[in-house]
Amino acid sequence: SKGNHRHFMEKEIHEQPEVISHTLANYLDFSKGRVRPDAAPVDFAKVDRIAASACGTAFYAGLVGKYWFEHIARLPVDIDVASEFRYREMPLSKDSLALFVSQSGETADTLASLRYCKQQGLSIGTIVNVRESTMARESNTVFPTLAGPEVGVASTKAFTCQLSVLASLAVSAGKMRGTINEEEERQLVRELSEIPRYATQALKLEAQIEAISRELSQVKHVLYLGRGTSYPLALEGALKLKEISYIHAEGYAAGELKHGPIALIDESMPVIVIAPHDRWFEKTISNMQEAAARGGKIILITDEKGAAASTLKTWHTILLPDMPEIITPIVYTLPIQMLAYHTAVFMGTDVDQPRNLAKSVTVE
Ligand code: F6R
Repeated sequence: SKGNHRHFMEKEIHEQPEVISHTLANYLDFSKGRVRPDAAPVDFAKVDRIAASACGTAFYAGLVGKYWFEHIARLPVDIDVASEFRYREMPLSKDSLALFVSQSGETADTLASLRYCKQQGLSIGTIVNVRESTMARESNTVFPTLAGPEVGVASTKAFTCQLSVLASLAVSAGKMRGTINEEEERQLVRELSEIPRYATQALKLEAQIEAISRELSQVKHVLYLGRGTSYPLALEGALKLKEISYIHAEGYAAGELKHGPIALIDESMPVIVIAPHDRWFEKTISNMQEAAARGGKIILITDEKGAAASTLKTWHTILLPDMPEIITPIVYTLPIQMLAYHTAVFMGTDVDQPRNLAKSVTVE
């Protein structure tokens, strides 16, 4: 049931601190400050690369995972949408781990990619929310997300739980590959354990975000920009807005702005800039200034340090607390989901059942 929420999507957004906490506890031993060895039964030291694929929002989770595995564990990740991966005949090595991400565990293209990799003799790991699904049955290793049933067609809590699993696995891989030491593992586990607390704080921004959404519901097009781990979030923000509010939105890597999309920008174009004060911040802010100089209405999502470091006057600034770099993609997802949700409510669309969409895409 929706409880006292108007929509399942709203309920599922608000469940995130709790379900992320359940998911993290399955992978991380907080008292020892370690990834649980039984929760990640893959010898990442012997894996030469990860071949990952997924669809839609699950694909964007995988894309964030790529940044983590490469940065923390120095483990290269090839990732593609499953509908391309399965036909691409990519050369695969038997020492690679094939990794799939799926809420339902039934998505046709992801399942076909899984079966293709199995045929090629790869070990199959799947991050999946539905434990009894076809993908879970056909995998060598199942990495469950403990999000609980997700009813809203637009994926919300499944995404942040997928990210929580990916971050835990990347830390585990780093430890096994010797790219981080015990103290660094403890530090990262401690940082991950803080996600539910920051997610709860992010939910407190809802009234401000609802007010911004009222204005957003008046526009025809929205551009989302981000760099590093915020780039997949820009893609996810645009997907969420278009699928439930039917407003046209595009997500771009911030550095790609000047290679085309900047031509779209004028006074009628909101540009949502996702920029925690991290190692990509300065570059993203200079892209934001380019957009502002063309009249783009900037909505900046940043933290205290970021707001202090940027002198540009924005249309709106959504301010999160300062937090460790590894958890920003998970916590910054919440304001992005709330923006899409409230904009859709103002548009009067069927939020939980958007037109032309199905919760589980079992056809190609
Ligand atoms: C978007 C959304 C879809 C799914 C995609 C994959 O909000 O929900 O893009 O993420 O259809 O579905 P699963 O994860 O079930 O494989």
